Amino acid sequence: MTAINAVTDLTTDGELGVITIDSPPVNALSADVRDGLAGAMAAAVADDAVKAIVLICAGRTFIAGADISEFGKPPRGAALHDVQARIENSPKPVVAAIHGTALGGGLEVALVAHYRVAVLSAKFGLPEVKLGLLPGAGGTQRLPRVVGARKALEMVTTGTPIGAKAAAEFGLIDAIVDDLRAGAIHFARRVLAENLPLHRVRDKPVLGVEEGMFDAYRRAQAKTFRGFEAPEANIQCIEAAATLPFDEGMAVERRLFMGLMTGLQSKAQRYVFFAERQANKVDGLDPDAPLLPVKSVGVIGAGTMGGGIAMNFLNAGVPVTIVETRQEALDRGVATIRRNYDNTAAKGRMTAADVDTRMGLLTPTLDMGALKDADLVIEAVFENMDLKKDIFGRLDGIAKPGAILASNTSYLNVDEIAAATSRPDHVLGLHFFSPANVMRLLEVVRGAKTDGQVLATAMATAKTIGKVAVVSGVCHGFIGNRMLEQRQRQAMALIVEGALPEQVDRVLFDFGFPMGPFQMSDLAGLDIGWSAETSKGETIRDRLCEAGLRGQKNGRGFYDYDAQRNRTPSPVAEKIILDYAAEKGVNRREVSDAEILERCLYPMVNEGAKILEEKMAQRASDIDIVWINGYGWPVYRGGPMFWADSVGLAKVAEALGRYGIAPAALLARLAAEGKSFTGAV
Ligand code: 3HC
Ligand code: NAI
Repeated sequence: MTAINAVTDLTTDGELGVITIDSPPVNALSADVRDGLAGAMAAAVADDAVKAIVLICAGRTFIAGADISEFGKPPRGAALHDVQARIENSPKPVVAAIHGTALGGGLEVALVAHYRVAVLSAKFGLPEVKLGLLPGAGGTQRLPRVVGARKALEMVTTGTPIGAKAAAEFGLIDAIVDDLRAGAIHFARRVLAENLPLHRVRDKPVLGVEEGMFDAYRRAQAKTFRGFEAPEANIQCIEAAATLPFDEGMAVERRLFMGLMTGLQSKAQRYVFFAERQANKVDGLDPDAPLLPVKSVGVIGAGTMGGGIAMNFLNAGVPVTIVETRQEALDRGVATIRRNYDNTAAKGRMTAADVDTRMGLLTPTLDMGALKDADLVIEAVFENMDLKKDIFGRLDGIAKPGAILASNTSYLNVDEIAAATSRPDHVLGLHFFSPANVMRLLEVVRGAKTDGQVLATAMATAKTIGKVAVVSGVCHGFIGNRMLEQRQRQAMALIVEGALPEQVDRVLFDFGFPMGPFQMSDLAGLDIGWSAETSKGETIRDRLCEAGLRGQKNGRGFYDYDAQRNRTPSPVAEKIILDYAAEKGVNRREVSDAEILERCLYPMVNEGAKILEEKMAQRASDIDIVWINGYGWPVYRGGPMFWADSVGLAKVAEALGRYGIAPAALLARLAAEGKSFTGAV
């Protein structure tokens, strides 16, 4: 064996040279890996005893892409294009042996090998678009030469990987093998024995190009790609592959890649990639400490949230006992879960057998005593402190020692809820977002007494059920809703001062949110937390509800909705707003779009700063992860804190002052010192 460098070695197996890359965790193409690959290729080509070369990786995966942490830094080591040229132009056949995830630059390296074999569990993709980029090492030019224009277009613009079976069908791999190393070696020997040619993907034509296909694709995906720069650049690259000679297509790829790489969107999306992984880490907790078991779960309340929460665990194969007070509510909750699964099955995304398996894991009951064996119990009953305290008090007498007791409360004080038990160290908040089976965010609320192991278990459990978890301290509305409240307050003030709901909504939609605050209110229901008995008619909301406007559910809210849910501004709502303003003696004025944006978003940033000051969030990037995954903040703007950094904190602080809002101490200090929240812009 020859060690080429710290992460690469070259061994021989008869007439074969086997290059192994071993650079944990994911064999990303760091300078070391590129240098190692270049050196190993040179050595293998120079060695007369070597007739063919196998390229394989140690650890959990084949090369999972370029090393994202190197982006934006001064270049070091061998250039990836040169490494690829060595492989592609090698006079000896190179076989790539793939397991795990051959992503981005990893797949681009595999695509310059002359043959590719993989194990059945391997995945192949070009996910650069998710980082606001495009495959910059020939991926956009080579992939369509293998899988055809249409499939390549889909793969580069969505970033979704394909499995080995599909890869074999598309000709992306030449064989599926059981034992990777032995299978690849066997394959390479066959290449030699049968004197198979040195296939170069670059020499193939792009198949499946149809007149007008690119524009048709643009139109079909316009909604999904709205606001993002990278999908369009990816489309242009595939278009170039389809219409230009290989080297000219490569030049287009290079030019567009550099444009994206130096832009703010990709910077934001790369920041989010690392922020998301960082969020799961809890400062001060040993990442290797043992966790509590979560093998069975109890859910209290089978309403909107309880049903969705239960589905998360059923999907992960964890049995769930769900408790209600009345049979009718229990039946309704269970029926909703089944209907959701049936709908998924009807769309072909799940089999009927899958539905039965999941439903088979669910035990509905009216008896809270059935929770005695649950490892984790999540309460999702009405948002009422007395009720929650009563439930936790009873649960304390039922749940086994060591069980984790969680509340899905949106606003209530988790410490007060915990105090209703004799084991506040085992209580925390698990704040899911609606619909709970779909939304990725989970706020894990750490009470004053929550035990570290309990918290760590909650973070790990979140990962098991596919959530992005963020730790929050105990405060009103935690991280997300606490900031949302600021936006809601400003949005309401703006429509009194002179804007109309549709203008405010348009400004936030154009910023990149899926919908504006008034559309969101209509969707959630205007009467949440409102009751006719207690309504004093003092707010616009009171008056809307009193006039029978409930939002989308009855087709009338800030907007009127037709049967297809198309919306038009409601004249009734507008009159209520104008009358309200007149009554308050407000002289309505024209409000600019710029003011709407600043007034809706800067106070949120300011609240984020307070959340950081109070240590309710561990880090600024956690706040960004909350807003991206729970509230539809456009990922290409990196979240509110990253975005504020990109605007400039001095500008944010100045504008807040202009609107009569005192900047938080942290914001004022950072602005004065010319610093930022995230240090990432
Ligand atoms: N560069 C640098 N670090 C990376 C990385 C990469 N490409 N991919 C993963 N990592 C790091 C993560 O930050 C994490 O670090 P941490 O443990 O310190 O938090 C660690 O590797 C493990 O990652 P995950 O927690 O995500 O592990 P999973 O097993 O859940 O997922 C994965 C593995 C599917 C490979 C996932 O990490 C992933 O999707 N990575 C990104 C792949 C990607 O986007 N590749 C394209 C890069 S751009 C490119 O190649 C440009 C080229 O065209 C020129
Ligand atoms: P919901 O009204 O849809 O469901 C509550 C359910 O709890 C009802 O089915 C009710 O019968 C049941 N219930 C009441 N008392 C009970 C008891 N003693 N034992 C067992 N079941 C009981 O309410 P929703 O929307 O699901 O909210 C539940 C909790 O989740 C609240 O704390 C809410 O603040 C929080 N939440 C709600 C979100 C939403 O968008 N709806 C989002 C995030 C959190």
